[in-house]
Amino acid sequence: MAEDVKNATMKKIIIAIDGFSSTGKSTIAKQLAKQLNYIYVDTGAMYRAVTYFAMTNKLIGEDFFYSEQLIERLNEIHISFKFNESLGFAEVYLNGENIEKEIRSLEVSRYVSPVATISEVRQKLVEQQQLMGKDKGIVMDGRDIGTVVFPHAELKIFMTASAETRAQRRYKELLERGHNLSYDEVLENVTTRDRIDSTREDSPLVKADDAIEIDNSDLTIEEQIETLLKLAKSKA
Ligand code: DC
Repeated sequence: MAEDVKNATMKKIIIAIDGFSSTGKSTIAKQLAKQLNYIYVDTGAMYRAVTYFAMTNKLIGEDFFYSEQLIERLNEIHISFKFNESLGFAEVYLNGENIEKEIRSLEVSRYVSPVATISEVRQKLVEQQQLMGKDKGIVMDGRDIGTVVFPHAELKIFMTASAETRAQRRYKELLERGHNLSYDEVLENVTTRDRIDSTREDSPLVKADDAIEIDNSDLTIEEQIETLLKLAKSKA
């Protein structure tokens, strides 16, 4: 049977991929979604979009964060995704403006974890994420997908790798995108985010009891995709 015919006859499931920052979740999730003909949603991009809104409206900066004002203005934030054919994935839009490039800066990465600690922000985004997954056939990556957004997801993956491996990958990626920064700055950002994401009160980053842990420090992308495809097919 041709691969896409086989996929079409399989039951659609929800695949939740959680893990620390820069574990390569989105690269894997994107390719997995493509192979299964599923929708891919990068929830980190949604938290980054809210952060970008806060930054451009001067609600967060080097030494200030007016979180109450951000909460009051959450109804002004409309996040959407539009599939870009040439890139092969969906880009994120804030109030109709494509902000895919802007949200990947180290500056947004610095402020995103404090923004993601706010329960009102999480509530708004979780609701939107649950709606996106109501028909299943979705691969969603983030920090709380298997624990909070879709606690009944059929397949839950928890990705890990050492902080140094992750910082090295992220550093390379940022340099390729033309950002000018040092490896130490990236490592500092990765470890600070790990700490804030794992210790926040609302929906901290923890492995769901029924998630399968994959340490991808020494795995190629192809090896990871192959493993996940097998798991997905066994659940579907
Ligand atoms: O996946 P990412 O690195 O782009 O995510 C950016 C930040 O957003 C991350 O440091 C924590 C937060 N986040 C979250 O709290 N919950 C999610 N489901 C996704 C991301």
